[in-house]
Amino acid sequence: MMITMLLSFSLTYLWSQEESIPQIGVEAPSFTAQSTNGKIHFPSDFGKNWKIIFSHPKDFTPVCSSEMLELAYQQESFEELGAKLIIVSTDILAQHESWKAALEEIHYKDRDPVKIKFPLVEDNNLEISELYGMIHSTENIKQNIRGVYFINPENEIRALFFYPNQVGRNIDELKRTLIALQSNYKSAETVTPANWQPGDDVVIPTLSKLDKENLGNADSDFYQLSWFMTYKKSK
Ligand code: BEZ
Repeated sequence: MMITMLLSFSLTYLWSQEESIPQIGVEAPSFTAQSTNGKIHFPSDFGKNWKIIFSHPKDFTPVCSSEMLELAYQQESFEELGAKLIIVSTDILAQHESWKAALEEIHYKDRDPVKIKFPLVEDNNLEISELYGMIHSTENIKQNIRGVYFINPENEIRALFFYPNQVGRNIDELKRTLIALQSNYKSAETVTPANWQPGDDVVIPTLSKLDKENLGNADSDFYQLSWFMTYKKSK
């Protein structure tokens, strides 16, 4: 009886460990792993950049391949935004190397082939996958879910997305989220409303007494749609 209870407790504990997903605001777990760009130490190799960890189920699959090709196409713009891309899957390094080489030959959407500069990280022992809650065992116990983790220069997780195997991610939405996070990082008093795009007006959850008194004046930077919806003009 006692042994059964202990066994059941241990299995439940192990199961919850495997499935735990780090929360927004926590420190992003550190790891060291082999990648197509050599050994990487996360986060120390990435300095004060933003980091986007992008997990995917399997190399040489069509949806994952399309995601890699779109990321490669937009890699310079992530670089310009000060963000480093890191791709993780449970496949082995040799598989990553040959998939990367094959992707670099493809004329995707009639574009010229693109060299992939970001690292494809090997996580065959599931170490990173477990640290980041990338295995959702109802989908697959050995493959990663499509996960995205946005990590700020202080190494805090600021946003996470999960998509199922059946739906490829929107790389423009990743970039929009990164820019929105960076906007709030630079100016903590402003946040971004639904469907916000760079250059749009932002939201101010609380106004100073002076700015409140100034509302309605032509020179005010702020306007209200209701007493509970205040916007700041982007100019
Ligand atoms: C894909 O990337 O095409 C894929 C990966 C895992 C399951 C189904 C599709």
